[in-house]
Amino acid sequence: MDKLLYTGKAKQMWQTDDPDVLRVVYMDQATALNGKKKDHFAGKGAAAKAISDLVFNYLIEHGIPTHFIKQLSATEDLVKKCQMFPLEFVTRNVIAGHFASRYGLDEGKVLPEPVEETFFKSDKLDDPFINESAAIALGIASHEDLEKMWGLCREVNGLLKPLFEKAGMQLVDFKLEFGRLTNGDIVLADEFSPDNCRLWDLKTDEHLDKDVYRRKLADLTQTYDEVLSRLQNALAEED
Ligand code: ADP
Ligand code: TMP
Repeated sequence: MDKLLYTGKAKQMWQTDDPDVLRVVYMDQATALNGKKKDHFAGKGAAAKAISDLVFNYLIEHGIPTHFIKQLSATEDLVKKCQMFPLEFVTRNVIAGHFASRYGLDEGKVLPEPVEETFFKSDKLDDPFINESAAIALGIASHEDLEKMWGLCREVNGLLKPLFEKAGMQLVDFKLEFGRLTNGDIVLADEFSPDNCRLWDLKTDEHLDKDVYRRKLADLTQTYDEVLSRLQNALAEED
């Protein structure tokens, strides 16, 4: 019988009979302000999972190593179990969110080159900013590990920016997480959905991500369904 290992803010992680494989359950829940704001949205888990599966499959097809194995149901995936790096890798193509508030800027200007920020994943500490020397000094990752993971972030940005553009959306920013497999390989893990990226409509700048919940702009599930159908159409055109 599967054993519940962890209930997070958006997903549950279950241990399967295979010690190297986890079952991920996407929940119908959204949180903001590090979990202080929490609400139920019917269909949100399935929409976020479908987007993440589509993106992970696209990245795998283009040579990115990931934890993804296969989908089990509308809300469940099987993934390779990782030893996660407690780090969040944020890439920003456009000024938005905390980058705007931190530096007193308006949102919307395209950055001359992507800005890369690393955060230490800790709910207790509110995910503080961390730099490379601190991450190395704290034994979280080596210089080579960080190089590898930032290299993958750049590749992911290079692949996804045009994919989202084709689907009529600007990839404003996104957060990635990585883990190590039992064989030592570093792979992209967690998820890629509008929970952890910002997407703006290319023509209208309409928000098509979790900001619709954070800022009370639109229905979350409907927004995620719209992102999914745009991505599906863009990929169908590629075939
Ligand atoms: P949070 O922990 O931020 O509330 P989630 O609700 O998305 O986030 O929970 C998923 C948890 O599982 C995260 O802590 C994430 O780091 C972790 N995780 C993601 N992929 C894997 C994996 N392949 N192996 C082990 N842990 C993973
Ligand atoms: P930020 O502007 O709030 O720092 O967010 C930058 C990007 O990172 C945005 O796409 C949302 C994502 N993100 C997460 O996925 N988890 C987090 O805890 C934070 C702070 C941001």
